[in-house]
Amino acid sequence: MGGLRRLEYRGYDSAGVAVVTADGGPLAMAKKAGKLVNLEDYLAAQPLPLGTAAIGHTRWATHGAPTDLNAHPHLADRGRLAVIHNGIIENFAVLKAELLATGVVFASETDTEVAAHLLAKAFVETRDLAEAMRIVARRLEGAFTLLAVHANVPDVVVGARRNSPLVVGLGDGENFLGSDVSAFIEHTRDALELGQDQVVTITSDGVAVTDFYGGAVTPRRFTVDWDATAAEKGGFRSFMDKEIHDEPKAVADTLLGRTDPAGGLILDDLRINEAVLRAVDKIVVVACGTAAYAGHVAKYAIEHWCRIPVEVELAHEFRYRDPVVNEKTLVVAISQSGETMDTIMAVRHAREQGAKVLAICNTYGSTIPRESDAVLYTHAGPEIAVASTKAFLAQITATYLLGLYLAQLRGNKFPDEIREILTQLHAMPDKIQSVIDHAGPVRELARSMRDAESVLFLGRHVGFPVALEGALKLKELAYIHAEGFAAGELKHGPIALIDEGQPVFVIVPSSSGRDSVHDKVISNIQEIRARGARTMVIAEEGDTAVEPFGDDVFFVPATPTLLAPLVSVVPLQIFACELATARGLDVDQPRNLAKSVTVE
Ligand code: M6R
Repeated sequence: MGGLRRLEYRGYDSAGVAVVTADGGPLAMAKKAGKLVNLEDYLAAQPLPLGTAAIGHTRWATHGAPTDLNAHPHLADRGRLAVIHNGIIENFAVLKAELLATGVVFASETDTEVAAHLLAKAFVETRDLAEAMRIVARRLEGAFTLLAVHANVPDVVVGARRNSPLVVGLGDGENFLGSDVSAFIEHTRDALELGQDQVVTITSDGVAVTDFYGGAVTPRRFTVDWDATAAEKGGFRSFMDKEIHDEPKAVADTLLGRTDPAGGLILDDLRINEAVLRAVDKIVVVACGTAAYAGHVAKYAIEHWCRIPVEVELAHEFRYRDPVVNEKTLVVAISQSGETMDTIMAVRHAREQGAKVLAICNTYGSTIPRESDAVLYTHAGPEIAVASTKAFLAQITATYLLGLYLAQLRGNKFPDEIREILTQLHAMPDKIQSVIDHAGPVRELARSMRDAESVLFLGRHVGFPVALEGALKLKELAYIHAEGFAAGELKHGPIALIDEGQPVFVIVPSSSGRDSVHDKVISNIQEIRARGARTMVIAEEGDTAVEPFGDDVFFVPATPTLLAPLVSVVPLQIFACELATARGLDVDQPRNLAKSVTVE
């Protein structure tokens, strides 16, 4: 149950388990709609027997409402075979019609149950669960991780994966399968990466992996560099709270060990020839949600430092609009989970067009780094809360490293200039810590605004993606209407939204710097105040010019402009977390969402 609890962030519409007992009797199963706690309460009253193998699942509903019946596992073969599934079986309707025609009776509305009945038929023919899985996997279209157990083979769990994550945990006299390593981290940190279109069979003392046609495969082994305590709340009231407090460390760890003895920058896993990187004439960042906002910040930094044009594209739009990419394009895929299907598909499309792909990712063994030409890992540690916080800061940090690496490689900056920016970057964890330590007034404001109906966020330059992220955090956590705007765009339309008392956060850029837009943002504040807005201003310490114009002013430590998002976003994360908590909402598991969106 600990494993399911740590995976619950991936989906919390329902949960279920099936246990195989050594006596070969029918499987024992329990499943309940709603969060895992419903299943736990049920099992506390009606425990399942101990078994030799078990499978468990938490669901983010795609096909069929989040009911007990649609919860996984799904049974077949008179209750002797159980299946759990992540992803979408796109040809399920055809397969279901075929099964119905042979008299199969369905108990749920899910696509998954099709796989259960097909497996049962294949198992009757082969008497071999792994071979049955291979036969079925070859017939399925779409994305799936499937796990199956059968009462006739009580010490075996078989899994298959295509376009959906699955990793193996290697224990002592026990082995595990999980969507990510947090499923088994309390038992082992040794793991195997599974590749695309592979079938795995585990017993208590063995692991065998093949492709979908039975050809043997040797999976790559890796060790997880964090332990179970990193995936616990550690005394905080929510994972999100804890993860905000982890931010200084996430940034520091992402910066750690990036320079070689000669002072040059190094990336983790660079399978791209330096000559190719020197010839890159365009960078396209593909990502979704918060990760895409990290990409927006990257655009400002990389273009400024490297003089390479950078486009930022929502991954789900990328391949459908026939983008211009070729062997001179570097596509940067940013993903905390490494399993976001929209981003995976963008990566594949980019590579098909001849582009090189560099992944910025927080999860070892995940699909995006495996399918990319180079990887820059963020070291934020496990992020459990659905709303991304520390991963965002780590992603921004990683894009700075990438920008500096390219500047070094292409000679856009002198080594001492790069060293100076690196020194400034290394000072950021302390500055972030200071924002967290002085967040009392932000929390107080958030609590006082628990009944707000709409909050707007304005930013300019790198403050624009910060505004977008502040609005996203508030929407997803507090279910309040929130919009982020480029401050300069206000007068082109959005200013019509400003009315008496409308709360507006304004991220004020640094007043230093040659092309500062500081004064223009101050003018924007005055424009909205003149129309009745309540202004909540985030500005850098020492910026006395803003004070008269903010109903509330929150100061963050002064930083070079391009690095400012690392501090200016933190009060907005805290604001959203605190306001949602004050509304009595579950900030770790907001409604309708899942941490990894593994369907397109
Ligand atoms: O795992 P990824 O970074 O690829 O996830 C992308 C988005 O789904 C994610 O950033 C999402 O927007 C955040 N959870 C929002 O807080």
